[in-house]
Amino acid sequence: MLVLGIETSCDDTGVALYDHDTGLRAHALFSQISHAIYGGVVPELASRDHIQKLLPLIDTLLHDAQVTPTDLDAIAYTAGPGLAGALLVGATLARALAFALAIPALGIHHLEGHLLAPRLETHAPDFPFLALLVSGGHTLLADVRALGRYEILGESRDDAAGEAFDKSAQVLGLGYPGGPAISAAATEGRDIGLRLPRPLLDRPGLEFSFSGLKTALLLASQEQPLDDQRRCDLARALQEAIVDTLAVKCRRALIETGHERLVIAGGVGANQKLRERLTDEVRALGATLYYPRPAFCTDNGAMIAYAGCLRLAAGQTDDGGFGVRPRWPL
Ligand code: KG4
Ligand code: ZN
Repeated sequence: MLVLGIETSCDDTGVALYDHDTGLRAHALFSQISHAIYGGVVPELASRDHIQKLLPLIDTLLHDAQVTPTDLDAIAYTAGPGLAGALLVGATLARALAFALAIPALGIHHLEGHLLAPRLETHAPDFPFLALLVSGGHTLLADVRALGRYEILGESRDDAAGEAFDKSAQVLGLGYPGGPAISAAATEGRDIGLRLPRPLLDRPGLEFSFSGLKTALLLASQEQPLDDQRRCDLARALQEAIVDTLAVKCRRALIETGHERLVIAGGVGANQKLRERLTDEVRALGATLYYPRPAFCTDNGAMIAYAGCLRLAAGQTDDGGFGVRPRWPL
């Protein structure tokens, strides 16, 4: 069973081929950099780029993997949540191709893709597991029992962790996307004794709140002239605050649920400091940490092809609808 996966929910055009028996066959990504000068994703530009890039990317993917369209058994695409116009590009192409090939098209939940992505790796977690999903749009802790059985244990009341990185990078003039820029700057940062807030850590529960953090950073950035060293020092303090907040909540969730496996997924999961800290936390609890390679933490087609293949194997097919769901609860 061979599934083509298509991801176009935001600013990455991702495609992949997943074979039920042999695993991931191929994947390719086009990352739109045109948004950098605007400091964030411009939806209209994202849709246009997807239109230009998607079909050639699929063509090359199939060609390089020596697969012809008639070898495909299904096409999985991200149906939401995400930018409506961007989602529509992937959905329309997936459905048109599936119709022409008389095979099913499966609309996949983007967050399901992220949650399952660590299972693409050799060191893959079995179900059930606890997942920390940290991306540009979401921050949540989920109890993942099986395919399609996800319970949100806590999520962000306001900004996502990735958003906190992105907005703070803008405050510091470090460019977009903010996560990689902040973590690179933080390596040059010194410990200046600045302790930025760790929101909601003093209260019970597994909810997050990151909007106050960027305000605190803004105030700190106005206290002194913002030269390069100061930027790095503040980037370090910010990264420490985010990593600490996420780690404490993960520890709490592991203890409360009794899970023995913790999975990090989503773009912020590529953060090295977060991985190091969570490695220490799970070790102290006798649990095991799993995470996908950085390219499968951020948006990619492989996770969509994989989720689609699992759903197809579970007997699910096309629901016949044509809509996308820009807002779609997990
Ligand atoms: O999962 P993703 O690619 O897209 C969404 O579904 O949102 O996540 C993108 C987010 C951005 O906010 C980006 O700044 C953040 O992931 N990110 C990172 C790192 N790499 C990407 N944050 C912290 N450290 C990183 N190394
Ligand atoms: Zn994502």
